[in-house]
Amino acid sequence: MNEKLNLYFNKDANLELLKKIKIGIIGFGNQGRAQALNIRDRDLNVKVGIRANSKSIENLKDLNLKYDDIGKVVSWADIVVMLVPDKLMSKIYNSDIKENLKDDQTIVFSHGYNIHYKLITPPNNVNVVMVAPSGGGRNVRNEFKKGSGVPSLIAVHQDYSGNSFEIAKAYSRAIGSTRICSFLSTFKEETETDLFGEQVLLTGSIPYMISKSLKVLLEDGYSPEVAWFVCYYEIKTIVDLFHEKGFDFLYKSISDTARYGGITRGDYLIDETIETKMKHILAQIKDGSFHHEMLNNSNNKSFDDELSDENKEKIKKLMDSIFKKTC
Ligand SMILES: NC(=O)c1ccc[n+]([C@@H]2O[C@H](COP(=O)([O-])OP(=O)(O)OC[C@H]3O[C@@H](n4cnc5c(N)ncnc54)[C@H](OP(=O)(O)O)[C@@H]3O)[C@@H](O)[C@H]2O)c1
Repeated sequence: MNEKLNLYFNKDANLELLKKIKIGIIGFGNQGRAQALNIRDRDLNVKVGIRANSKSIENLKDLNLKYDDIGKVVSWADIVVMLVPDKLMSKIYNSDIKENLKDDQTIVFSHGYNIHYKLITPPNNVNVVMVAPSGGGRNVRNEFKKGSGVPSLIAVHQDYSGNSFEIAKAYSRAIGSTRICSFLSTFKEETETDLFGEQVLLTGSIPYMISKSLKVLLEDGYSPEVAWFVCYYEIKTIVDLFHEKGFDFLYKSISDTARYGGITRGDYLIDETIETKMKHILAQIKDGSFHHEMLNNSNNKSFDDELSDENKEKIKKLMDSIFKKTC
């Protein structure tokens, strides 16, 4: 381990620990599919737990993965990995998982939400750990197939057996994370920072900033094609510039105009009002009010990009013609 940064790599994680262990993956969605396939490719003993009449059965058969009812997989497994949607997880835990848990099992979560907000309280005689990949299931699988991985945050909530942390590291290696690195965290830190990152940046600001800037250009009469190129397409090229080397590299790599305009207008746009709002959002996450609000409202929100149907259609056609050609 790197003592200062709490980072763990392949050399810090013992895959042998999982060699005689049965791993039950509950759910076969974004993460379930990716993690189950990565574990299978490690020659570890994995079985997927699904509901009766699951739409995933055909896919599981095609992929030659073992599967069974959720309750049976929980009874069979030594490690139970919770990969169903967060908002349904406690219901599924109470109906199919809780009564089938055994002494000394390990429950793995890929997000701390249900433990942190006490929607799930596992019994004292099991380990409770987190291995939360910093990326979607598609990335977790694709990077693994390339011989790489997606980093994970790992944490221990409850250590019954005395080796929970070793199990968490080994699991993060099994899905490919320690090829890049796993970071030591806590359920609280992962949950609160994950929600904050989503809300103020990833799914809150970025899509909203893009669509608002498109709207401003389109309402001023610019063509949807050109507006889309500057406000949407170029985002990826900019992210690629700073992703590995930081913002200093970005500002050194762009034109004088882009640097001067970006810095002066960035200071104007992203001002103290935004910082105050970010702090308010963080406070709502920390005091649980966001969680309570979402419990009753998560199904009644959809994104409105505020563009006219005509402009939407033009942008859709443009994207289809560009990306279909390059895919
Ligand atoms: N998505 C991501 O990018 C991502 C990234 C990091 C961490 N995580 C975490 O990973 C966990 C799983 O998220 P996910 O996005 O992978 O979930 P997901 O794709 O939405 O999960 C879908 C799976 O859950 C099953 N399922 C849905 N409702 C069910 C029910 N009522 N009873 C039994 N099974 C049910 C589905 O069954 P059927 O096949 O029968 O439909 C399917 O197999 C979450 O804790 C999430 O926070 C996700």
